[in-house]
Amino acid sequence: MPPIDKRLFTDAMRLAATAVSVITTDGEGGRVGATVSSFCTATADPPQMLACLYTAGTTPAVLRRNGVFCINLLERGQQHVADSFAGRIARWKDDRFACDKWTHLATGSPVLEKTLIALDCRLTHEMTLSTHTVFVGEVIALATAGGMPLLYADQNYQRLAEPGVVNLEDFQL
Ligand SMILES: Cc1cc2nc3c(=O)[nH]c(=O)nc-3n(C[C@H](O)[C@H](O)[C@H](O)COP(=O)(O)O)c2cc1C
Repeated sequence: MPPIDKRLFTDAMRLAATAVSVITTDGEGGRVGATVSSFCTATADPPQMLACLYTAGTTPAVLRRNGVFCINLLERGQQHVADSFAGRIARWKDDRFACDKWTHLATGSPVLEKTLIALDCRLTHEMTLSTHTVFVGEVIALATAGGMPLLYADQNYQRLAEPGVVNLEDFQL
């Protein structure tokens, strides 16, 4: 079988809705972060998360050196944080962290105040996959502030409908 066309693949996957997070790290290598939608739970026992980052970006080398990271799952009102850590906002280009307030848990990685979920991780594995690096970390501390997630689909930020908006009586079953 010939390899599938790359454009066909990316156009199809654009339709998949994902949560949005900012992966951060701090330590000897410095303090950096990037917006990621390629992240998920890897295992629950032990609790491990994984994230895929473009290897030639700034974050992977620093994260590797620090050996720790935090995945901050964004709340629906935190689109400005996603844009800042994607390098999309000119006034925060030199300091992405200036977009909001930060604290920390166990590893010292920046934790966004009032984020949906913060998963503070110790790096345990990494694997290079063509252009990207997959980082796996064991969750050693977490915090939740509640709220609703910020989503991304079809190249735009999206929100879940308010509970109750979909009414079963509106459907003919
Ligand atoms: C909604 C959204 C999701 C993104 N997801 C990823 C991702 O999963 N992996 C990735 O490498 N870049 C992703 N990016 C792009 C990075 O956030 C962007 O290239 C950033 O500038 C990388 O920072 P760095 O070069 O400092 O590492 C995403 C951007 C947006 C807006």
